[in-house]
Amino acid sequence: MQRKRSIVGIVVVMSCFLASNCLAGGGHGHTLPQKVGILLVAFGSSEASAQISFENIDKAVKAAYPNIPVRWAYTSDIIRAKLAKQGKQLDSPEVALAKMQNEKFTHVALQSLHTIGGAEYHDLRRTVTGFKAMGAFQKIVLGYPLLATQEDMQASVEAVLKTIPKERQPGEAVVLMAHGTHHPSNAFYPALMFQLQLRDPNIFVGTVEGYPEVGLIKEMLLKKKIKKAYLMPFMSVAGDHAKNDMAGDENDSWKSILSDAGIQCIPVMKGTAEYDSFVAIWVKHLEGPLAHFK
Ligand code: CO
Repeated sequence: MQRKRSIVGIVVVMSCFLASNCLAGGGHGHTLPQKVGILLVAFGSSEASAQISFENIDKAVKAAYPNIPVRWAYTSDIIRAKLAKQGKQLDSPEVALAKMQNEKFTHVALQSLHTIGGAEYHDLRRTVTGFKAMGAFQKIVLGYPLLATQEDMQASVEAVLKTIPKERQPGEAVVLMAHGTHHPSNAFYPALMFQLQLRDPNIFVGTVEGYPEVGLIKEMLLKKKIKKAYLMPFMSVAGDHAKNDMAGDENDSWKSILSDAGIQCIPVMKGTAEYDSFVAIWVKHLEGPLAHFK
């Protein structure tokens, strides 16, 4: 944490030098012409399969805002380091913003491509606050992640209902695998399950690293005597967690745990960002920051 903060500090100072003035478009007594940019910020993934998700979002954002340049950043240090080893350079949000400042962007709309407002989202908030404090841009505004408002919850319920495989029969379950976190925002996942079950009582939401855990989901399925379940990642990408924790052959994968309990599992290897119904929610969230620039 300490290390991360000092890196942010260095980058912030560096980017001031890069832009050779720290005043938003106002250094040396002249104002820069308005230049609006979008920065899409995902957790990131080193899995090739995840690229479909990112490309899908990129396409949707560019279709919605054809005249606004789009940049990308990944919040995960680990993922960026992994990709760097493969020769792929991905920027952190701080570096991406420093570059945008250097390119004389005056207004930046950051769009979080995270699922909930958890740790990464709040780190991003602090980064935005830092760039705001140094006057790097005339305006810099951060858009909500997928699940933020009640409207988002409803839209996500609709999106989930649309993504369920058509071959699913009545009485068969859909188990969504969310990431989960120690962060208070984990509560969005059980809240989503509650709202999904109002529409379809056989849809469940579990998490890999938060609540509810797969053990509880298993108990719920057994109580309802469910014999077959579609396992779907509730993460933007079908990456490492989907491949291993959800659908892997190891004893502790969800597929193994539920199969051992007599529930036939059908994994669906698609991230939420591969479905237009979810992408539309993130794209709509960009309206928030961009409305500040008028
Ligand atoms: Co993870």
